[in-house]
Amino acid sequence: MSSVSIPPPKCLLKSLVVPYRHMFGPGPSNVPLRILEAGANPVIGHMHPEIFKIMSDIKSGIQYMFQTQNNMTLAVSGTGHSAMECAIFNAVEPGESVLTAVNGIWGERAAEMTERIGARVNTIVTPPGGFFTNAEIEQALSKHRPVLFFLAHGESSTGVLHPLEGIGQLCHKYNCLFLVDSVASCGGTPLYMDQLGLISNPTRSSTVLYS
Ligand SMILES: Cc1ncc(COP(=O)(O)O)c(C=O)c1O
Repeated sequence: MSSVSIPPPKCLLKSLVVPYRHMFGPGPSNVPLRILEAGANPVIGHMHPEIFKIMSDIKSGIQYMFQTQNNMTLAVSGTGHSAMECAIFNAVEPGESVLTAVNGIWGERAAEMTERIGARVNTIVTPPGGFFTNAEIEQALSKHRPVLFFLAHGESSTGVLHPLEGIGQLCHKYNCLFLVDSVASCGGTPLYMDQLGLISNPTRSSTVLYS
């Protein structure tokens, strides 16, 4: 007969106490009380009718945040890395050409992820702290004809906020998806998707944006 030889850990028999800390980095960050309280709501199933209303309200909030009427707006709960993987893995097939702008670690990270799924990764590289002109981006798009172009809006490793004006239109011109990483910029600076031309068109081109 088997017997339990490992007792329940005493530390887990006490209530969890987490101290309040002020956090001023790009993340983790302090969470407003309203959000913490929302997390204390009951768990319901993904097929309960109420969840559809909640998901739809969240979608409206994201559309407001990014100032977009794009109907394909959805929340993926997870870390920034999970959003990067989700966007890249769902948009790129092995063997396809991808272009990544590297001006810090997030461009490098996106290039590594894309390489791992067997895509043909091309990069435009500038030293940390630098940025790319639209002419440089267009030259690379026309040379490599990628299915997806990655750019970090807020490159948190260097503090560079990359201009986005005109790049959406260039991606439309070259029929390429535009993947924008706004993990570190969202909420800190405006990101008006529709005004910037970061919208879907009827062919392949559209914008995949995560924050
Ligand atoms: C620009 C940028 N992209 C992606 C990430 C990854 O986010 P996470 O740490 O939540 O995985 C970070 C995190 O600092 C970031 O600054």
